[in-house]
Amino acid sequence: MTALAAHFSEEHSAEIVAATFADTPDPRLRAIMTSLVRHLHAFVKDVEPTVEEWTAAIGFLTEVGATCTPVRQEFILLSDVLGVSMLVETMNNRAGEATESTVEGPFHVVESPPRELGADIALDGKGEPCLVTGTVRATDGTPVPGAAVDVWQANADGFYDVQQPERQPERNLRGLFTTDDEGRFWLRSIVPRHYPIPSDGPVGRLLQATGRHPNRPAHVHFDVRATGFRPLVTHLFVADTPYIDSDAVFGVKDSLVREFPTIDDPARAAEAGLPNPFRTVHFDVVLRPEEPRP
Ligand code: BEZ
Ligand code: FE
Repeated sequence: MTALAAHFSEEHSAEIVAATFADTPDPRLRAIMTSLVRHLHAFVKDVEPTVEEWTAAIGFLTEVGATCTPVRQEFILLSDVLGVSMLVETMNNRAGEATESTVEGPFHVVESPPRELGADIALDGKGEPCLVTGTVRATDGTPVPGAAVDVWQANADGFYDVQQPERQPERNLRGLFTTDDEGRFWLRSIVPRHYPIPSDGPVGRLLQATGRHPNRPAHVHFDVRATGFRPLVTHLFVADTPYIDSDAVFGVKDSLVREFPTIDDPARAAEAGLPNPFRTVHFDVVLRPEEPRP
């Protein structure tokens, strides 16, 4: 047991508190708590909050917790709007030659139904039709057959099916596809719309108080998995969507932005099983091999 270095003083507050974690048996927990105390005390010394401000901060965090339910995670949303979700995601998926990752978001709450390649996931047929194609490959360029490609997206009004159970069919705009022998996948959908993150809680109030908007640019979510590879959670962003340069959760990476060109060709539309004209997007996914277990 390490003795306390000293009684409390403003000058040495961080060292005094950090020292109380010196005997933490788990070295990782010890390092985390020591760093947390150092940075937290530095933050407080920088801001010099009044007692009222500190009480308000604790009230805010309390409200963030109270807003959480089995289907609403306000702490994750707070981490999202502070850019911490993207930082942790990016540090843990340094992409190299693989496709870059981004946040999963809160709308992957139901399992996507397995669907045949080419299936139309726009169950209500509403929106601008779009053909989505791509190939899953390994970093050495080899196609990955049998990869699970889970796709989910908002509709043309910017709502997920789970947000509008009365207005959208169950599992609308969701599908779990399996790549063919050449690693290819293709599906029919619609072009999604941008939408606001849930902003009726404390995180929404924080955005409002700081003059920030709550919107995300239009995107399609992908979760791609294959045996022997690291799972990839990412999005495909529509290049000409509003908010592409000001995503409320910082999810946009240049490499994930694609044009969705319009094809006006009745023969190609018939081949794709879509009305003419239709939009298209191609997304080649590169997976990293799984690291061997130590
Ligand atoms: C989403 O893209 O579904 C999302 C991501 C982060 C926060 C809210 C929504
Ligand atoms: Fe989303």
